[in-house]
Amino acid sequence: MRIVDIIEKKKNKEELTDAEIQYWIDGVTDDSIPDYQTSALLMAIVLNGMTSHETAKLAEAMMKSGDVMDLSDIEGVKSDKHSTGGVGDKTSIALGAIVSACGLKLAKMSGRGLGHTGGTLDKLESIEGFNVFLTEKEFKKQVRDIGLAIIGQTGELVPADKKLYALRDVTATVDSIPLIASSIMSKKLASGSDTILLDVKYGEGAFMHTIEDAKKLASAMISIGKKLGRDTRAMITDMNQPLGNTIGNALEVREAVETVKGEGPKDFTELVMVAGEIMLIQAGKANNKVDARKLLEEAISSGRAFDQLKKMVEYQGGNVAQIEDTSLLPQAKYKTEMKSKEAGYLDHIHSMNLGILSMKLGGGRERKEDKINYAVGLEMKVKKGDKVEKGDLLCTVYHDKELTDEWIESFYDTFTYTDKKVEPIPIVEEILE
Ligand code: URA
Repeated sequence: MRIVDIIEKKKNKEELTDAEIQYWIDGVTDDSIPDYQTSALLMAIVLNGMTSHETAKLAEAMMKSGDVMDLSDIEGVKSDKHSTGGVGDKTSIALGAIVSACGLKLAKMSGRGLGHTGGTLDKLESIEGFNVFLTEKEFKKQVRDIGLAIIGQTGELVPADKKLYALRDVTATVDSIPLIASSIMSKKLASGSDTILLDVKYGEGAFMHTIEDAKKLASAMISIGKKLGRDTRAMITDMNQPLGNTIGNALEVREAVETVKGEGPKDFTELVMVAGEIMLIQAGKANNKVDARKLLEEAISSGRAFDQLKKMVEYQGGNVAQIEDTSLLPQAKYKTEMKSKEAGYLDHIHSMNLGILSMKLGGGRERKEDKINYAVGLEMKVKKGDKVEKGDLLCTVYHDKELTDEWIESFYDTFTYTDKKVEPIPIVEEILE
């Protein structure tokens, strides 16, 4: 087999065979295929696409390029969820506590934040002592004991994706549904869970800007999951404004704690509850949404969900006192109230801009090696559609350095107003199975 013939075939819009896809991914993994040929093939895929069969084969070959977590020695259904990333997304922390309190086993590997989106690991690390680097043995023991563990990647999962993603980043070949779907799903499949719930976000703060593209990506990922024997479902959710009220690591942990106790913001709570319903049904813990919702509500009102969160923090070496009293989490030196300079209905809240503003306070990374300030961030006081008067509070900013004029100007550019009433957008747009 020759890689040049495979490139030629894709250039001519032909379907690649399983063997050809395997040959390519083997060559990417052992570096026997040079980057320039892989780049050419990636571009041919961006331009000419892949069938659902090719996409699933690509995901499978990538999954097998490295270690694959074997969770079969843990009794029961193991569940996983994945978000395509957004601003203020602390879902895994709250959802994990609530669903595991309903008897579900969540064995989750999460990532770090880069650019305008945060990462679950960084958020958890704002809790003093919290260890995201468990060995496979410790990870499995924790899932067995308490049904919940959220850690960083263990072992060498999907090395082919690491290489392909680095190349895609510099060859304008990121935005291809088959390539994104196979990249995400290869990692989910290698994590070893039986069920996968995908939270595919759309909007200006998300990877997919339109609902249509989000649905296409979700369908491609569901198809891969199903072909490889995993119950995979997806929800399409709004990212045209930050999720919940807080952006920033310790602030988001606080909001996740509040949500687990039933005191969270409406939009975030709704997203967590819908995700929980789907996951409980996937794991066979409930037959329908109504029953699932009752179980989730009971887990919250009884305090069991909060106990689960504390148990996870304790197991992973974190300071539980900071969960019991969130005022003990890292606190910023300054608190500044940002007030509206205009009156009207809030037409648009530029979530990506808010993510960037939080990053600029030190709450996120511009480059991989940047250090994070866990205390800083934003606490929003308004949502899209709210009617505000001049002088009304828009947001409280938590910061350690003085806010620059440029930062303040950019903050005010985040909001647009209108005279007309604005209809709120549902947080969960659609569920795909
Ligand atoms: N996230 C991934 O993991 N892979 C992609 O290709 C895009 C987003």
